[in-house]
Amino acid sequence: MKLLVTGGAGFIGSNFIHYRLKNHPNDQIVNLDVLTYAGHLESLKDLAGNENYQFIKGDITNSEDVKKGMEGVETVVHFAAESHVDRSIVDPLIFVKTNVLGTAQLLEAALDNKVKRFHHVSSDEVYGHLGPEDAAFTENTPYHPRTPYSASKAGSDHLVRAYFETYGLPVTITNCANNFGPFQDPEKLIPRFITNLLMGKKVPLMGKGENIREWLHTEDHSKAIDLVLQKGRLGETYLIQGEEKTNLEITRMLLKILGMGEDMIEYVEERLGHDFRYANDGSKLKALGWEKEHSLEKDLKEVVSWYKENEWWWKPLKHGRPNIDRKVQKAYEPIH
Ligand SMILES: NC(=O)c1ccc[n+]([C@@H]2O[C@H](COP(=O)([O-])OP(=O)(O)OC[C@H]3O[C@@H](n4cnc5c(N)ncnc54)[C@H](O)[C@@H]3O)[C@@H](O)[C@H]2O)c1
Repeated sequence: MKLLVTGGAGFIGSNFIHYRLKNHPNDQIVNLDVLTYAGHLESLKDLAGNENYQFIKGDITNSEDVKKGMEGVETVVHFAAESHVDRSIVDPLIFVKTNVLGTAQLLEAALDNKVKRFHHVSSDEVYGHLGPEDAAFTENTPYHPRTPYSASKAGSDHLVRAYFETYGLPVTITNCANNFGPFQDPEKLIPRFITNLLMGKKVPLMGKGENIREWLHTEDHSKAIDLVLQKGRLGETYLIQGEEKTNLEITRMLLKILGMGEDMIEYVEERLGHDFRYANDGSKLKALGWEKEHSLEKDLKEVVSWYKENEWWWKPLKHGRPNIDRKVQKAYEPIH
């Protein structure tokens, strides 16, 4: 099968390409990625010379690039996005451009090329946030995005569904929890904390660290997408459930793995509108046969080891980047 993977140089996309080529060695994969600050071809350097893998540097918001990527493709798995909530607070318009317009360009080209499946990768953040006692999100929870990131992902989800309803494009959607695994950019919580600690620096924890996130290993995520491609019903959405933990619990797990104390935590100001809790009811996907195989308890250690052993990958990314925390604070100033 020939697949177009968009955003394959990013965190989850690169893990998905590795997973797919390992488990479906006869697939041909085209990776269309414009290589923003979040795109790292180094994550795929082991695929050099693999005849079943092709990289195209291209922008999903550009119809010519998308046309080139879509040639002869049966299945599209769409990861490409601006994905960092903090950045969306500082610069929302690029999120609208990439996540909404980019998805629309891909949907148009998918229709023209009569692809057999357009799979859209989305986030549980489109549903808003939950209180401590609220029931988990289901596929029927009304959308209530609260950040420019989640609003742009919500927009893309609606477009994907509209192309199913209006044009009969064969689509499926998965919305998932926060991912953890190798090759995640050190701007996101888990790799940021690991790499800070490996460099002997403190970790900035917002508020009291009480916010709750669900965590999903990238391999479990790839398996879920694979299953939905095989067995998912067209036009349907599947939530992918992770494991709930507070940010403080995650921080403590990392400190324990690295043999460090709580003096390495620096408590920083809570972000305005910081979503309190996300939780997903994964029964619909489980009914297709998916089960989570990884756990934080077992696999966070491996992720820490990966960052220990792969400084060549993340060290260059820790330097020379603008301080997003400061910019986020500044973005709020006029509103306070
Ligand atoms: N990381 C998570 O925990 C998480 C959770 C739920 C959903 N998601 C979704 O999964 C997908 C992948 O997330 P990720 O964490 O791997 O993101 P990422 O930021 O690590 O990677 C995004 C990739 O998309 C590419 N890209 C950005 N703009 C592009 C454009 N205009 N044209 C082509 N390529 C472009 C980047 O270069 C990068 O390689 C996203 O759609 C995100 O919304 C992520």
